[in-house]
Amino acid sequence: MKAIRIVPGEHGGRPVVHQLPDPRPAAGQVLVRVHAAGINRGEIPMARRLREGAPVPSGVEFAGTVIETGADVRTWQPGDRVMGHGPGGHAEQVLADPLALMRVPDALSWVEAAAFPNVFITAHDALVSNGELRPGETVLVNAASSGIGLAAIQIAKGMGAKSVIATSRSQAKLARVAPYGVDVAIDMTRGTQVAEVMAATGERGADIVIDSVGASVFEDNLRCMALKGRLVNIGRLGGSIARLDLDILWLRRLRLIGVTFRTRTEAERLACVQGCARDVLPLLQAGRIQLPVDRTFAFDALGEAHAYMDTDQHVGKLVLLVS
Ligand SMILES: NC(=O)c1ccc[n+]([C@@H]2O[C@H](COP(=O)([O-])OP(=O)(O)OC[C@H]3O[C@@H](n4cnc5c(N)ncnc54)[C@H](OP(=O)(O)O)[C@@H]3O)[C@@H](O)[C@H]2O)c1
Repeated sequence: MKAIRIVPGEHGGRPVVHQLPDPRPAAGQVLVRVHAAGINRGEIPMARRLREGAPVPSGVEFAGTVIETGADVRTWQPGDRVMGHGPGGHAEQVLADPLALMRVPDALSWVEAAAFPNVFITAHDALVSNGELRPGETVLVNAASSGIGLAAIQIAKGMGAKSVIATSRSQAKLARVAPYGVDVAIDMTRGTQVAEVMAATGERGADIVIDSVGASVFEDNLRCMALKGRLVNIGRLGGSIARLDLDILWLRRLRLIGVTFRTRTEAERLACVQGCARDVLPLLQAGRIQLPVDRTFAFDALGEAHAYMDTDQHVGKLVLLVS
């Protein structure tokens, strides 16, 4: 099979298509023929950091057909349409844990299905498992045009948030994000986030902040949070060193939460997939979740996709066409 490996180099790693032996499923594993695979922002810095060592499998999500199951797998059968979360998705075949797979609704294309797992699992974990979203709450989503942002907006709306406030550095992107469930759109370049969130919430503030931007918006985010608000940090696209006013933290009794797959155990990762399957799959099946794909790329053009992602022109997901 063909599989993409990130090959380390002096100036960082680069994606290279390798010809590798077809994998065989061991007990408790599922072998999937990948048709399309999502591309994620975190893969870019990960590749840049690779200066030495062995080539690393690329991709964290995929959609395809089950080819074969190992002993003890009862939940999946050859022919099942699945989408999954786990390493090595940028390959014609991938081995997966049965609990890392979700059934693809009939109405979804392979490209749409490949756009689902990572951002929806992450956003669900941030909003629901960590942010403890309750119906009627207000959610502020930074970098709303990102894959994570669009997932967070739709999960929040689908699970009963009263109001979703979205930010972006681009007015044009805010217009494209609006139909996914945005109640208030804030152009971050105006520097008026705090005033706009407070005005939109009757001076109460946001109950949950889903933040992929980090340092450059951290102080503003804290200043427009409600009493007992929860800020969940997912990414640090605007820097990682921020100033914290402990008076605000203390007086508003805020909770600051970080989430990442990097320090999760395998059991914790699988629990995230299952949580998303429980709460978000029914919304997807009911047609209440859209999967906006900005652009698709040929299998041998992952480098091009990373370069395009780096320009921040996209709204929604980039997807690799595999087989
Ligand atoms: N913690 C986890 O488990 C986890 C899982 C998945 C992803 N992530 C992280 O979450 C972040 C988003 O990932 P994604 O795949 O959804 O990204 P994406 O689709 O590439 O979207 C990124 C968007 O963020 C905004 N942005 C970029 N640089 C910015 C800056 N300096 N200041 C403000 N906004 C900026 C841009 O939107 P505008 O131009 O509209 O402002 C850009 O389009 C990444 O940092 C990624 O590594 C974390």
